[in-house]
Amino acid sequence: MDTLLSIHKVSKTYKNGYKALNKISLQIPKGEIFALLGPNGAGKTTLISSICGIVRQDEGHIKVKTFDTIFDWRQTRELIGLVPQELTLDNFETVWDALSFSRGLFGKPPDTAYLKWILNALSLYDKRNESIIRLSGGMKRRVLVAKALAHNPELIFLDEPTAGVDVALRKRMWELVQELRRGGATVILTTHYIEEAEEIADRIGIIDKGILLLVEDKIKLMNKMSKRQLIVFVKNKIQTIPKSLNQFDLQLHETGAAVIYTYNKNASRTGITRMLSALSENKIIVKDLQTHQSSLEEVFLSFINKDQK
Ligand SMILES: Nc1ncnc2c1ncn2[C@@H]1O[C@H](COP(=O)(O)OP(=O)(O)OP(=O)(O)O)[C@@H](O)[C@H]1O
Ligand SMILES: [Mg+2]
Repeated sequence: MDTLLSIHKVSKTYKNGYKALNKISLQIPKGEIFALLGPNGAGKTTLISSICGIVRQDEGHIKVKTFDTIFDWRQTRELIGLVPQELTLDNFETVWDALSFSRGLFGKPPDTAYLKWILNALSLYDKRNESIIRLSGGMKRRVLVAKALAHNPELIFLDEPTAGVDVALRKRMWELVQELRRGGATVILTTHYIEEAEEIADRIGIIDKGILLLVEDKIKLMNKMSKRQLIVFVKNKIQTIPKSLNQFDLQLHETGAAVIYTYNKNASRTGITRMLSALSENKIIVKDLQTHQSSLEEVFLSFINKDQK
């Protein structure tokens, strides 16, 4: 597959001596949706800003197609659309003017049909003649997305695109990302909503303290975490788990109303039957069962915590 973005050993230390990026290397193929996850201060915005030419890295290089982001910045900026994390809007212009102006800045000819399509996709068409100052916070964020798309960029960065956007509109925004990809775009997003990454990303990167800890196919990552939990609700509350059940390594739920059994769903023997008969031998009556699969959120936290240990 064609590589659209290539990041090679990029490091950035801010003037105050803080190393925000530490030898980041990453290749993004054309047409991919990539989600960058990481706690506050991990370096996500710094990385995006370096690619977009807002921050200058002190080591390494970044290429979009064959263009270097420092030496060929005009070409790379034209290929890139950025939705910044912070609201940066000229409040007094109208939504429509903001989009038209943004498109014009890149020297693109007017395209009313395309701008209409963007505004509709972001549920902003009704607001097209409204001054931005009169919009709600979530609407302003969507205007930022619309503005970033106005010049038909091939590589789109969404730095927390749905922060403060309500649930229904967030889902529409996810649909829009898929549509943009179908139209040939490549999308890199940062998010604190793990559900968002789980829903739309092809690959996931986890960054912490300026280090890219992991880059993995989303499905593979979730399969790796093949642990499942069986939550066994019991009829009578338990104070302590009987010693004869030690082999199953059960956890007692803090309410005493359930025990939790962890197993590997890919193992040939899960041990569930043996565990349930052992419960019955100990006169523990099962009331209900529930299974729980590791979510990407747990995967993420396990990585970040591993790093902190
Ligand atoms: N202009 C700057 N000068 C000095 N330090 C900075 C500057 N911008 C960011 N930093 C520091 O660099 C680190 C990475 O910041 P960055 O904004 O890239 O994090 P982030 O992963 O985007 O976090 P968040 O999830 O909060 O948006 C932080 O410790 C931050 O304080
Ligand atoms: Mg950020």
